[in-house]
Amino acid sequence: MTTDIILDCDPGHDDAIATLLALTAPELSVRAITTVAGNQTLSKTTRNARQVLTLADRTDVPVASGMAEPMVRDLMVADDVHGESGLDGPALPEPTVDTVDEDGVDLIARTAEQAGSVTLVPTGPLTNVGMLLKRHPEVESHLDEIVLMGGAVGTGNYTPAAEYNILVDPEAADIVFRSDVPVTMIGLDVTRAARVRAETFDRFRQLGSDVGETVAEWLDFFLRFHEDRFGWEGVPIHDACAVAEVMDRDVIETEPMHVAVETDGEHTVGRTVCDRYGVLDAEPNASVGVDIDREAFVDLLLDSVAKY
Ligand code: RIB
Ligand code: CA
Repeated sequence: MTTDIILDCDPGHDDAIATLLALTAPELSVRAITTVAGNQTLSKTTRNARQVLTLADRTDVPVASGMAEPMVRDLMVADDVHGESGLDGPALPEPTVDTVDEDGVDLIARTAEQAGSVTLVPTGPLTNVGMLLKRHPEVESHLDEIVLMGGAVGTGNYTPAAEYNILVDPEAADIVFRSDVPVTMIGLDVTRAARVRAETFDRFRQLGSDVGETVAEWLDFFLRFHEDRFGWEGVPIHDACAVAEVMDRDVIETEPMHVAVETDGEHTVGRTVCDRYGVLDAEPNASVGVDIDREAFVDLLLDSVAKY
């Protein structure tokens, strides 16, 4: 029994690896890929998604671009992390797949309705998802679950309080966490625990494929940022953790919690306020990742890339 998913992403090195993982996962059927402005502008994240599909030789998957700006705020790209293109590092093939002639938000709605039910996997700012729930409220009945990469129980990464995806569009995130759709939040607490160390990068190279070499070079690029910014010896492949959660629910440990999104705080805007110990006596509205089996996660990644 496979799970129909839609990936909503802002490639982004970790989005790109998450996409490669999802495309070969036997547990998943990727029904569509939609892009959102985030790590880079919409035109760049969309080109990057098209290049990743070309690299993966999966130009059969429909891809469409969604929102170019957050719902009410100005876009804040992460060029300091992912570079000018949004996917700096190894040269990628020119895209041989174009976007479908449909708005990304509408493609999600149509695909979900046609499939009957899908799991939506956002790995960028939640602008497309917020707009989906506002523009197509009827789609909620076709969303089994939203498994998103974003937020944190603990500290943020782009500010001390906020993780990047939530920070870019907290208003959209607020809509998502207030919706009636089951939400699983895979945040920094999980992705930091799954950091992949530099010596593992060679295991991707040893696969002997263009895809394996490309993943290794993306990881090399991504590591340099994390060494400089955080002094880490490993890379959090954030978005791939969200895909891994849909593939195998045993890899990540989750707990039910009430999650509120801060949209106003001078120092805390974009924070996911996670009531881990139920002190507010508020009904949990999300399943939140708190730990991960790193070895199992790395094995999933290697098994996936080995299939290309
Ligand atoms: O904070 C990490 C998240 O922000 C990841 O999705 C990364 O791709 C960036 O979008
Ligand atoms: Ca991302």
